[in-house]
Amino acid sequence: MSDSFYVTTPIYYVNDKPHIGHAYTTVLADVLAGVHRLYGHPTFFLTGTDEHGQKVQDAAAKLGITPQQHADNTVVRFQECWQRLGIRNDDFIRTTQPRHTAIVQEILQDLYDRGEIYRDEYDGWYCVPDERFFTEKDLQDGKCPLCGRPVQRVREANYFFRMSKYQDWLVEYIQNHPDFIQPDFRRNETLGFLRKPLQDLCISRPASRLAWGIPLPFDQDYVTYVWFDALVNYISAIGYRRDDARFESLWPAVHLIGKDILTTHTVYWPTMLKAIGVPMPRTIFAHGWWLNDKTKMSKSLGNVVNPMDMMDRYGVDAFRYFLMAEMTMGQDAAFTEDAFVRRYNADLANDLGNLLNRVLAMTRKYCEGKLPAPEPGAFEAEGAAGELWGIAKQASTAMLASAEAYALQDGIAAVMEAVRATNRYLEARQPWTQAKAADPAPLGTTLYAAAEVLRLAAALLSPVMAEKMTALRVALGLAPDVAAHPTLDELNAVAFLAPGTPVAAPSPLFPRIDAPRPADEAGAPAAKPVKAATPAASPKPAKAESKVPSLPEGVISYETFSQVQLRSAKIMAAEPIEGTAKLLKLNVMMGAERRQIVAGIALYYKPEELIGKTVVVVANLAPIKLRGIESQGMLLAASLGERLRLVTIDGDLASGAIVK
Ligand code: ME8
Ligand code: MG
Repeated sequence: MSDSFYVTTPIYYVNDKPHIGHAYTTVLADVLAGVHRLYGHPTFFLTGTDEHGQKVQDAAAKLGITPQQHADNTVVRFQECWQRLGIRNDDFIRTTQPRHTAIVQEILQDLYDRGEIYRDEYDGWYCVPDERFFTEKDLQDGKCPLCGRPVQRVREANYFFRMSKYQDWLVEYIQNHPDFIQPDFRRNETLGFLRKPLQDLCISRPASRLAWGIPLPFDQDYVTYVWFDALVNYISAIGYRRDDARFESLWPAVHLIGKDILTTHTVYWPTMLKAIGVPMPRTIFAHGWWLNDKTKMSKSLGNVVNPMDMMDRYGVDAFRYFLMAEMTMGQDAAFTEDAFVRRYNADLANDLGNLLNRVLAMTRKYCEGKLPAPEPGAFEAEGAAGELWGIAKQASTAMLASAEAYALQDGIAAVMEAVRATNRYLEARQPWTQAKAADPAPLGTTLYAAAEVLRLAAALLSPVMAEKMTALRVALGLAPDVAAHPTLDELNAVAFLAPGTPVAAPSPLFPRIDAPRPADEAGAPAAKPVKAATPAASPKPAKAESKVPSLPEGVISYETFSQVQLRSAKIMAAEPIEGTAKLLKLNVMMGAERRQIVAGIALYYKPEELIGKTVVVVANLAPIKLRGIESQGMLLAASLGERLRLVTIDGDLASGAIVK
């Protein structure tokens, strides 16, 4: 078994827009990989996109482009989102890449040759959106048991994987390997599922119905069932059947998944691996859902918190911190802006940010801005500094242990506890009184010890908040390169900071967020971190209601402007609205999102002239009704006198792009 930490996320459906759920799993994988890297373990972190199947085929057909083009257009949203979130994945796999499709086909051929896949007549019920077959008993009130939509009677030949024959083996494996499926209650859920007889798995779809898939190598009239294709990414990406040495250095993986895809990962995937003779994954960890008022946040429910928006408002690091600190791994958690603001102010602005500024301010005031030296042996002694250091070392142990136990929130809490202990230490030692004494040595110990705990705490939190923690460490006098790359040696060091080093001037690392936001104003512009006041640009008295008194009248700040979300959109359909001369009803696509917009452009454009144009839409405008028809956004247009022309995108660019 390799000693690498190889961690994966689910590969996300490429035509979805990245939302907080995707962001959570990906940040979680990033932080787990980061903690293992910090402690010197070889790590590999894989994410990617799931690009075959009915939904991509249908979306592409609506847009009049090929499924591959559609995937190429939409994959960018994930890649850009991960870049902005500071995700450090080692690879990004797309299931349409030849490196993946070739391996899937080789596996299929091998299983077919060995009789593990067979052809059979099938008679049952099929749910088109879910791409799943059900028996009569599976149905709920005659509808799909997964989504509740109508099912179709299907009678056709298909190919089946002999999954049923692995049932007893799988039950035994799960029982004998308590770490295999985590948390415990998910293992029990899978074992419960396995109490019923396991069916063989239908792994093909007739190409006549669904063309967008990997063709079966032994029958071109069929494509591969999307899950049988997608799961293989975890091994195709790391050299399975291509580079044995590499594969063996990384496998087995830790698979992070949401609880929605437990069965595919803990039943289908293990039996597939068993059939091809690959050892089992190390762990399949299923986390809970981010909820919004007790319902799952998902695109179809339209209650999605867009991670991009949260990042824009509060910064990437604060967002990542919230995701990691707030959710008890495995449980569900509620995402509310109030909870976010509370935790940000308490942990980051107050405890951590204030501690840094106290240490910097007192070092400037009492020690000419240079880090003082501690008394010899201060950290070993049984005194206050030694005790404090003990708490910091415990936090270091807790951080690694929490990554290994899939309970990161506990490691983060231990670090925050060390930070709070340092604030209490300062209260107890009273450096402002020590500064008046003739002997400067105790003051030196106090400030140095506080700085040293901060240095270690920031190293431990660097997998969560790389940028802010680097800034914190630079402020304490570490060279930027050292600050940005904490090592295991550093974690084990005592008195790592060099006395005599100049420290930075205090400045808020995490400015407090004022939160005047009423709870019922979902979607309204939210509270922002308070920025250091800008010098007044105009002597003009500010209007009472103006929030930015320093700006001349009629001038808006960049912050105000950046609240307007402009997106490119493609016009798919346009029709006149009866009884009006000016209005047209438009259907536009913004990436994978369809919107209906009522626009007053009928005097200037004929409906058929508009189809196919890529225009610019104000995407976050509250919907309004015009002549009883809902308008979900506004088009930008330039008008002069009698003329009006739409603002369009110059050249070829996928719809859904951010305009700024
Ligand atoms: O299922 N809270 O892709 P997918 C937390 N392509 N996590 C959430 C979430 C929420 N509200 N909503 C989604 C697929 N997730 C398949 C996977 S793998 C071989 C193929 C996260 O785009 C969570 O990780 O629907 C969940 O498992 C994943 O997004 C589903 O992503
Ligand atoms: Mg899903």
